Amino acid sequence: MSDLFAGQAQDARTELAAQACVLHGFALPFEDALLAGVADITQAAPFRHLVTPGGHTMQVAMTNCGTFGWCSDRRGYRYDRVDPQSGLPWPSFPDAFLHLARDAAAQAGFDGYLPDACLVNRYAPGTRLSLHQDRDEDDRVAPIVSVSLGLPATFQFGGFARGDRPVRVPLAHGDVVVWGGADRMRFHGVLPVPPGRHPRLGECRINLTFRKVR
Ligand code: SIN
Ligand code: FE2
Repeated sequence: MSDLFAGQAQDARTELAAQACVLHGFALPFEDALLAGVADITQAAPFRHLVTPGGHTMQVAMTNCGTFGWCSDRRGYRYDRVDPQSGLPWPSFPDAFLHLARDAAAQAGFDGYLPDACLVNRYAPGTRLSLHQDRDEDDRVAPIVSVSLGLPATFQFGGFARGDRPVRVPLAHGDVVVWGGADRMRFHGVLPVPPGRHPRLGECRINLTFRKVR
């Protein structure tokens, strides 16, 4: 076999919990379509640094696609159908986004996944995302499908209390993490992204997280 498949086997999977796993390289066949999708989305709804209710500017730059977009400002966290920056609806899901999210969810044991939101996160080297639960969605059972692109990073996957010690999960370009059902409300985060340059994305990591809000 050529060195196309050198390294991690394309079908490798790491179990994180009963209903949580990493699907290594699962997004690689979708790479071109995903990157084109990110370019289209960010042209219509540029990355921005949101402010938390506590008044801190977030390190991670964010935008959204789908019916609902996650927003934060001094008034709180919420999902909104329109981009507050433009007053326009968020860009709709590129076909490849929905296709990948459904396939990854099914592969992880969640058939019939129909997300209605996708948060697009951009991490510059040094950027981290502290431990948190995804708790602004009405649906707390449907999985989160999280796609890593660009620079590698260390994902932290914890328990149901902030103080539970998380496991460290190395994530590379094309890896997909899925957590739902009984594991849907686990704390998770990202350690500071080490410096580096990715051949397709340059000095950044991009993460797509699909959710079912309503
Ligand atoms: C998130 O929790 O929203 C993002 C996780 C990641 O960037 O891998
Ligand atoms: Fe999250």
